[in-house]
This record gives sequence, C-alpha cells and structure tokens, in this order.
Amino acid sequence: MKICMIGTGYVGLVSGACFADLGNTVYCVDKDQEKIDMLNSGEIPIYEPGLKEIVKKNYFSNRLKFTNDLAKAVRFSDIVFICVGTPTSKKNKSADLSFIFDVAKKISKNISRFKIIVVKSTVPVTTGDKIEKIISKIKNKKLFEVVSNPEFLREGEAIRDFRYPDRIVIGSSNNKITRKLESLYEPLIKKGSIFFSTSRRGAEMIKYASNAFLATKISYINEIANFCEKTDVNVEDVSLGMGLDKRIGSRFLRAGPAYGGSCFPKDTKAITVTADLFKTNLSIIKSVINSNSNRRMLLIKRIGKILSNRIKNRKITILGVTFKPNTDDMRESTSLIMLPYLNNMGAKITYYDPSGEKNEFKKLKNVLFSSDLSEACLKADLIIIHTEWDEFKSIDFKKICKNKNLKIYDMRNLYSLKKMRSSGLSYYSIGR
Ligand SMILES: NC(=O)c1ccc[n+]([C@@H]2O[C@H](COP(=O)([O-])OP(=O)(O)OC[C@H]3O[C@@H](n4cnc5c(N)ncnc54)[C@H](O)[C@@H]3O)[C@@H](O)[C@H]2O)c1
Repeated sequence: MKICMIGTGYVGLVSGACFADLGNTVYCVDKDQEKIDMLNSGEIPIYEPGLKEIVKKNYFSNRLKFTNDLAKAVRFSDIVFICVGTPTSKKNKSADLSFIFDVAKKISKNISRFKIIVVKSTVPVTTGDKIEKIISKIKNKKLFEVVSNPEFLREGEAIRDFRYPDRIVIGSSNNKITRKLESLYEPLIKKGSIFFSTSRRGAEMIKYASNAFLATKISYINEIANFCEKTDVNVEDVSLGMGLDKRIGSRFLRAGPAYGGSCFPKDTKAITVTADLFKTNLSIIKSVINSNSNRRMLLIKRIGKILSNRIKNRKITILGVTFKPNTDDMRESTSLIMLPYLNNMGAKITYYDPSGEKNEFKKLKNVLFSSDLSEACLKADLIIIHTEWDEFKSIDFKKICKNKNLKIYDMRNLYSLKKMRSSGLSYYSIGR
C-alpha cells in the first residue's frame, strides 16, 4: 500500500520504517528539516535499538522515503497516518492539539482522491470528530474517512512492539475502511496479534484508559513500597505474590522512581481534563498524578537522608538519566528534577548515560557528563542507579570506586539485597 506518516518522531519513524519493511511504500514527513536531512544522510535522530538497520534496508530498497513536502506525500498516499506530538498544553493540563489540527488543515488542502486518514497520535476522545469537521470544511466527506488507530509501542522496545503487538485497535464506523486497515496489518495478525475494531471514540478512549491504568499500577506499587520500607517487608516479594494472581498480573508492578516519559505524565493529565469537560471526575487518576509528583521529592529527600543531610560538596554519581533504558528520551524523567535539586544543594554531580550527554544539564554549574562508567564512579561518595540500563546490572562497585565509605542508592532494585549486605557495601534500595 502507499502510506505516509506525518510526524517522523518515535512513533512515526518506527512505524513508518516497519510498515515499509512489510512491503509498503512509505513517505515519512517532518517539518523539522534537520531531522529529514539526517535521515536522508543515513543518520537516525533517535536512539532505538534495531531501528537503524530497518531504516537503511528499506531506504535503499526505495520503499522508505523522507521528506518535508507534506503535500507531495499526501497526494501520493492511500493512507495518511497522523503521528505528530500531543504534548501537555502550556496553558493548562490538557493535550495541546495544535499540531494535530495544523496537520489536518494541511491534509485537507491536498486531498484530490479518496484518503484514509488515520490518527496514530494519542488524542482525547472526540478529537477524530474535530479533525473530520476541519477537513470537511474544504473537502467533500465522500473523499476521506478519519479513523483512530492508537499506538501502544514502548520506546526501547519499539521494533518488537510494532511487529508483535498484543492488539491492533481500529476505531471506525465504516466497515470497508476497517477491513482495509485489517489487511494492512495482516502480516502482524497472522503472527498472532489480535485485531480489535470499535468506534472511533472507543479507540481514542482505549488508549488513554490503558495508559492511565498502567500509570496507576506503577504508582500503586510505589506507595506499597513506601509502606514496605516502614514494616521491613520486601516489596519484590509483594510484587511477585500479587502478580501470581492472573487477575492482577506481574507487569508494571515493580517499584522504582516516579513514572516519567513522553506518555504517562501527559496522558494522565489530559484524560482528567477531558473528563472534567464532560463533567466526569476521574478521581483515581487525579490521585495517581498527585502520588507520582510527590514521589519525585520523596526519593530526593531519601538521598538527603542517605547522606545524613550533608549534600554540599558531596560527590554524587548518577547512572542513567533517561526515563527508561534503551532510549535517549528525557521527557518527564525524574532526573530532570533530581539533578538540578542536588546541584542547588551544592553536590558535585557526575552522570553517565549510555545514550550520551544531555543538553538539559549542560548549563548546570557542578554537573559533569562522563562517557565512561568506571571513570564516573571512581571518586563517588554516593552512586545512584536511576535508569535500568543493562550495563548497570553487574557493576563491581568495590573495583570501580576507590572510596571506602561509598554509598549506593539503587532506585531500580537491580542488585540482590542479601549479596550487597554480605559484601559490606552501604546499599540502599526501594521498598526492601
Ligand atoms: N513516544 C512513544 O513512546 C509513544 C507511544 C505511543 C503513542 N505515542 C503518541 O504518539 C504521538 C507522537 O509521539 P512521538 O513520541 O513520536 O512524538 P515526537 O515529538 O517524537 O515526534 C513528533 C514529530 O512530529 C513532527 N511534526 C509536528 N508538527 C508537524 C507538521 N505540521 N508536519 C510534519 N511534522 C510535524 C515534529 O517535528 C516531530 O518530529 C503522541 O501523541 C504520543 O503521545 C507516543
């Protein structure tokens, strides 16, 4: 099929490359010229394992093209995917839909034959209705159909998630269009993914409700971890014991820092704002948002306690600053609050992240990036494991740090409590 992805970010680039890999011809469009130039010269603007190989293979097979010419890409395509960002609005906590509506207007000017317009971006319920209204101001309704197809891929595992999704959700009241999209996804359905079709509003709601539920699970176990710390219970046993109940399930039940990233924080806020507009109080999700925001400070205060509240001039090494491993995405990462806070308190910070140095910290006075894990840890008073990258899972702390009084704060519970205690290291973790 002939496809275009408007917005070549994490979602548009990964799904565009993977659609091309399934044999479709795909235009990836972005208004960011620098991004398009990078892609056309073989560079990948994001860190995503396995993506470079797929992009390269399909680019040279002429099935994958990168352009800033939206008009050309739309005219070429039978199916137009909208994959632009829907960040939190600067005015309130709602989703900023200006990128979506801007794209809808641009698409409307370039429809000369029938197009399926698929909204892959995460949008509040009824956004599809609004897009339809914008386009129908200029084009006859017979010339297009707006469909919802929310994306569930996770950064860091995006290729696998695209190829083997648990489910593919299509929201449309038009059966013919639903069947057309089913045939686009047929190679994935044949491998076992479940195809689920519903109304357009239903699909929009499924995405937000799913993200809010996962965020709730994380916050829930994080609060249970706080309770475990006071009662000398190991939260990992609690997670395992709970997760064995099939009604609960073990995933997203691992205690750690506050949830972050480009989705959960903004989507939990947006769904509550939309629900308020429909005079529905989503009180559970509102308290999840509160709990998560409190957690950031709670863990930072714990750092103070570990250092007996003497933070000034202490050498703190932070391992991992992205919100999760295998991505370079810094959006809403706890580190964005933690590093500046510790810096303000006078700490001397060195951080190491496998995805490289971060612009966000370049202006901070006593914050240094080290491109070498051992070098970063050499003189530390405290090592904080913030992100669960694989290379942090088997560190010989005594070997890489010369400080006899080294303390370790493992926010991801990567190490065995028993082994760390018996090795004589001053080791702190979460909920155990
Ligand atoms: N990142 C994820 O893991 C993930 C997962 C599932 C769903 N989503 C949702 O998918 C959407 C996109 O997320 P993302 O992380 O890929 O965003 P992103 O910020 O990485 O990428 C969005 C891209 O859209 C481009 N863009 C904006 N306006 C444009 C226009 N008028 N024309 C062409 N390009 C334009 C931007 O330049 C940017 O490159 C969001 O709604 C997000 O909530 C994201």
